[in-house]
Amino acid sequence: MTQQGARHVPVLFDVVMDFLNVRPDGTYVDCTLGLAGHAEGIMRRLGPGGRLIGFDRDSEALELARGRLDRVREEMGNKAPRVELIGEAFSRIEEYVAPASADGILADFGVSSLQLDEARRGFGFQADGPLDMRMDTRMGPDAGQVVNEMSERELANLIYEYGEERRSRTVARAIVRGRPIKTTAQLARIVKSTAPPMKFGQIHPATRTFQALRISVNRELDEIRALFEAAPKLLKPSGRLVVISFHSLEDRIAKDSFREGAGQGIWSILTKKPVTAGEEEIQRNPRSRSAKLRAAEKQGLGTRD
Ligand SMILES: C[S@@+](CC[C@H](N)C(=O)[O-])C[C@H]1O[C@@H](n2cnc3c(N)ncnc32)[C@H](O)[C@@H]1O
Repeated sequence: MTQQGARHVPVLFDVVMDFLNVRPDGTYVDCTLGLAGHAEGIMRRLGPGGRLIGFDRDSEALELARGRLDRVREEMGNKAPRVELIGEAFSRIEEYVAPASADGILADFGVSSLQLDEARRGFGFQADGPLDMRMDTRMGPDAGQVVNEMSERELANLIYEYGEERRSRTVARAIVRGRPIKTTAQLARIVKSTAPPMKFGQIHPATRTFQALRISVNRELDEIRALFEAAPKLLKPSGRLVVISFHSLEDRIAKDSFREGAGQGIWSILTKKPVTAGEEEIQRNPRSRSAKLRAAEKQGLGTRD
């Protein structure tokens, strides 16, 4: 399959469906619709009494997801479930999902291939674009403001904390000297100039800096913490939370939140170790290489009705 084809392949699809164990009459929340690959899978497993609630704070992703799910609805006819799509951050989930009403919640964190591939969104450095990186373009500041306005010290801390970049001080110094920085390619060049020559198979030296900026601009870790805070309130007893993370900062929050919740009698953990993609999936869809899936079931009296 081509990269273009891989764009539409949701990560760990079968594993997600197994853990969600969709009941036809149930209520399921997809916190990160993206291209709606997982959402379509959930929708097809629901019946007319079922309900799918989907979030994406990226309005372009939301419209693409809407188009795809509308086509599925047409195909399913009167067997289609109710679908509601919400163009907000999933940290606002409690405003839209009633307490103890959900049978399953899914979150596939991170950026979509759509965001990465569109140079004008400014997420990647493979193609040149403006330094933006906002998933929700109604919010600020964008990556350009962060890069051009933060103090050197703040930048170094941000790149260290969110990029886990040991050379953060050197990178921050080069960024401040290179200002004003307008494009992703310019930033990538500046960061690369501070690094030793790349060896074969190494990640690009700007990868960690870009990750740090993206996490900061989109407050990604706060979003994830808010979801773990809300999910136990929104799930029915035996309802499940399934999350897929793409880097260690995200996975650490998932791992610690589940572990802590298990200690408090909130969660029963279903994945002792995170589930990762097999070789075949990685070949087909390189994005799945760093994916780690964790799932847990809400403990409590009673069964799902
Ligand atoms: C990795 S993609 C999801 C792919 C999707 N599972 C599929 O099957 O196509 C992540 C999506 O979640 C959205 N997203 C990330 N963080 C979000 C948040 N905190 N609130 C709402 N949407 C978010 C992004 O805009 C992106 O479209």
